[in-house]
Amino acid sequence: MPEKPIVAVTFRISDAGLRYLRDDYTVRIWPGDLPPSPDELDVLLDGAVGALTHGANKVDGNVLDRHPNLRVVSNYAVGYDNIDVPAATARGVAVCNTPDVLTQATAELAFSLMLATARRIPEGVDYVRAGKWKTWGPQLLLGQPLTGATVGIVGFGRIGKAFARMCTGFGTRILAWDRSPHTKTTDGMDVTFVDMDTLLAESDFVSIHVALSDTTRHLIGAVELKKMKPTAILVNSARGPVVDTDALVEALQGGEIFAAGLDVTDPEPIPADHPLVHMPNCVVIPHIGSATTQTRNAMAELAANNLVAVLQGRQPEAILNPEVLENLTP
Ligand code: GLV
Repeated sequence: MPEKPIVAVTFRISDAGLRYLRDDYTVRIWPGDLPPSPDELDVLLDGAVGALTHGANKVDGNVLDRHPNLRVVSNYAVGYDNIDVPAATARGVAVCNTPDVLTQATAELAFSLMLATARRIPEGVDYVRAGKWKTWGPQLLLGQPLTGATVGIVGFGRIGKAFARMCTGFGTRILAWDRSPHTKTTDGMDVTFVDMDTLLAESDFVSIHVALSDTTRHLIGAVELKKMKPTAILVNSARGPVVDTDALVEALQGGEIFAAGLDVTDPEPIPADHPLVHMPNCVVIPHIGSATTQTRNAMAELAANNLVAVLQGRQPEAILNPEVLENLTP
């Protein structure tokens, strides 16, 4: 019997995805809790025709050159800044991702983080755990209200729009900044597209929903933070480097903004002794935007199906460089 082609998976994928791979492929799964180092990734990818990756695995032209059998890199994430897509396209390698299935979960997380930060919930938990709760206090842990506030959404893609929908229940005024506002629909929601300066100056909450690219790296830096209200809250559930970390530390220390809620950081993971981790007005959580069992299973299924579709010469549900499909033969 001919040997089955090898598919490399860089993390312990759930059975929801694995079951689509194991019949037709030899599935080589990275067993570690931490992602493989570049050298370990090379060993894992050796001879593989497909790779199922996630955001902590960097796949650039050099990696692809060392693994010429690869025909598809299927990322278990909607973001794909860890993969050099033009380099993959130039080498005829398909790149897939997992949009849509994680939209609601990620928007929910951003929304929870916004309220947790505004209402100082982690500080409250710490306060109780430390045995400091001796009486009800009229001035204890005063936060910022969402009801009636102005919410500025940076990036009105799928997740930004789902986040906007959640905000509509709170009588908010919704502003949005997007690089291509004319391509965006609001599905009947009252959303005003504005320039970045207006969004920063008028918003009580600024929530980031752009992909990371050369144009969005440090989109929010010292200058932008200074334009925000001193009572404003910044929420980042997109990618850490969209915000300039050093500038954010200064803004939080100097009271330029009220607080920040971060599900993503730069660097990521953020070291436990980083100033942002210890500031009472910064809530940092470990990149859990899509972390519900249902969503992660749907991501595993979509990532595996995308990979198999490319290898079997079918159109995958989500592909970032469809032009390579024309030259792929099953
Ligand atoms: C997670 O960060 C993703 O891009 O899906």
